[in-house]
Amino acid sequence: MAIRSIVTYGHPALHSPAAPVADIDDGVRELIRDMVDTMYATSGIGLAAPQVGEPWRVIVIDLSLGEDAAQLIRMVNPEIVEQQGEQRHEEGCLSVPGYSGLPVRPARMRVRGLNPDGREQVVTATDLLARAFSHEIDHIEGRLFVDRLSPLKRDLLKRKLRRRIRQDDWER
Ligand code: NI
Repeated sequence: MAIRSIVTYGHPALHSPAAPVADIDDGVRELIRDMVDTMYATSGIGLAAPQVGEPWRVIVIDLSLGEDAAQLIRMVNPEIVEQQGEQRHEEGCLSVPGYSGLPVRPARMRVRGLNPDGREQVVTATDLLARAFSHEIDHIEGRLFVDRLSPLKRDLLKRKLRRRIRQDDWER
């Protein structure tokens, strides 16, 4: 079990698209295990590889916070097959500690990807699960919830975040 440190706003891995995984080898499987451990250790409901500084298209989600093994989703190279509607709820991100916002997310989405054994999996998600998929897939595209806020809120928050980076002062 290894808990990795989470990189924060301003780290290059969070702001550019991650690369597809060509081969799910032992290194990728270890990354996935570490991501699950790290998600549970930080009480997050999802984590994307760029958040631990690894620029690969890998996400993990567990709405049960580790209480129900059946709810753990580990997906390599996730792709949005279809999405419908809109929802807006308060959300935050482990990589933007201390801030939250009301981004617009799809109400329903269908996502396809590979599981750690390389088999295809398709998940249909609504409500919180749809938001979690949208949030984590955004991460592997180099986008954060900040980028989905209204222009006014986005600019205000980005100014605050840039000031934080300059002062090297993150509340955790
Ligand atoms: Ni996040």
